[in-house]
Amino acid sequence: MRVNPSKKMSLFEPAIFAKLKSFAKQQEKLLGFNLIDLSLGSPDIPPHDMLLKSMSELSSQASSYGYTLTGSNEFYEAVARYYLRVNKVELNPQHEIVQTIGSQEGLVHLPIAFCDPGDYVLTTNPGYVAYAAGITLAGATPYYIPLDGDNGFLPKLSAIPEEIAHKAKLFILNMPGNPVPMAPSIEYFTEVVDFAKKYNIIVLHDAAYSEFYFTGDSPISFLAAPGAKDVGLEINSLSKSFSLAGARVAYIAGNAEMIDIIKQLKSNLDFGIFNPIQATAALALDHAEEITAPLRTTFAKRHAILMQGLLNLGWEVAPSNGGMFVWAKYPYEIDSVSFAFKAIEQTGVLMVPGTAFGSEGEGFVRLALVQNENLLSEAVSRLKTLSI
Ligand SMILES: Cc1ncc(COP(=O)(O)O)c(C=O)c1O
Repeated sequence: MRVNPSKKMSLFEPAIFAKLKSFAKQQEKLLGFNLIDLSLGSPDIPPHDMLLKSMSELSSQASSYGYTLTGSNEFYEAVARYYLRVNKVELNPQHEIVQTIGSQEGLVHLPIAFCDPGDYVLTTNPGYVAYAAGITLAGATPYYIPLDGDNGFLPKLSAIPEEIAHKAKLFILNMPGNPVPMAPSIEYFTEVVDFAKKYNIIVLHDAAYSEFYFTGDSPISFLAAPGAKDVGLEINSLSKSFSLAGARVAYIAGNAEMIDIIKQLKSNLDFGIFNPIQATAALALDHAEEITAPLRTTFAKRHAILMQGLLNLGWEVAPSNGGMFVWAKYPYEIDSVSFAFKAIEQTGVLMVPGTAFGSEGEGFVRLALVQNENLLSEAVSRLKTLSI
């Protein structure tokens, strides 16, 4: 038979990540050098022993295998306790939190719950790729706010045209960001709340990297801004902070009316997450400080090595105090996709071209801090030999 994809499928292009990886594998064989993969933000640190033990004990119980349908009370209460301890934000466990199957699932489905074709969704360029996928699924129209270094890579609200703001239904933000690891501030989030109230826009802040900060206090939660719960939501995940990426567990917290609508949508889409994962996630949240402190020490060291190394090579590096990535401008006149392929060919270092995250990423690459310090130093030494 002839298989014809839907028209909508033309909007979902194959991701560049897969092409880079298969090229890198070929080169590894051809050139005989080992790759240093700084492409995907997949945590390389194993989950805490306490979490591994919990998963294995609970998974061996026959009673763990029924449908869960939704998030468990145990999970929701742990999220509420975590938000209160870490962010000083009170959440009602039953009405202000909904569990999602990783934040990816939440991000791609959420626009369906609030946007109709013709509605605009504000987000950033560059930005995390799932936002565009969700906007496309909902048939909404993205409006990309450029992130530029002169403005500390913060999305400039005054640059959003009035007519777009009036047609916007949703605003998706991400700090510390991927790929640009800019930090949030209470002042900025307060500005976002005022803007959202003025134009009646739902805000969704993606806090996937909230436990990744190098010095000082944790990045501010969007829900800690005055009035934030009137206008929006925060999505967070256990993938990065607790090295549970494969377990697929995350949550959205905030405005009760919005949470209710998302729960209604999800009751038609999925039947919940495996109970041992939910219980282990609750355990992780209850021990967050103990589990995430070593991660910060490790990532701060990695960040310092890579940032300083690239600066020494004459690259420009976006300043940051957190996140899992380095966003860097290379000193060569070549587009970012060709540059990423050349870097693999000549050095075996895998980086993601900036344009994978939007047109404003031209001239940049994203490097994930997912290798140990020695390999990051080795990556810098290899990049020094590039001839372009
Ligand atoms: C900013 C951001 N949000 C969400 C996700 C999705 O993570 P997960 O679905 O594992 O929670 C990622 C993954 O890289 C990310 O970088």
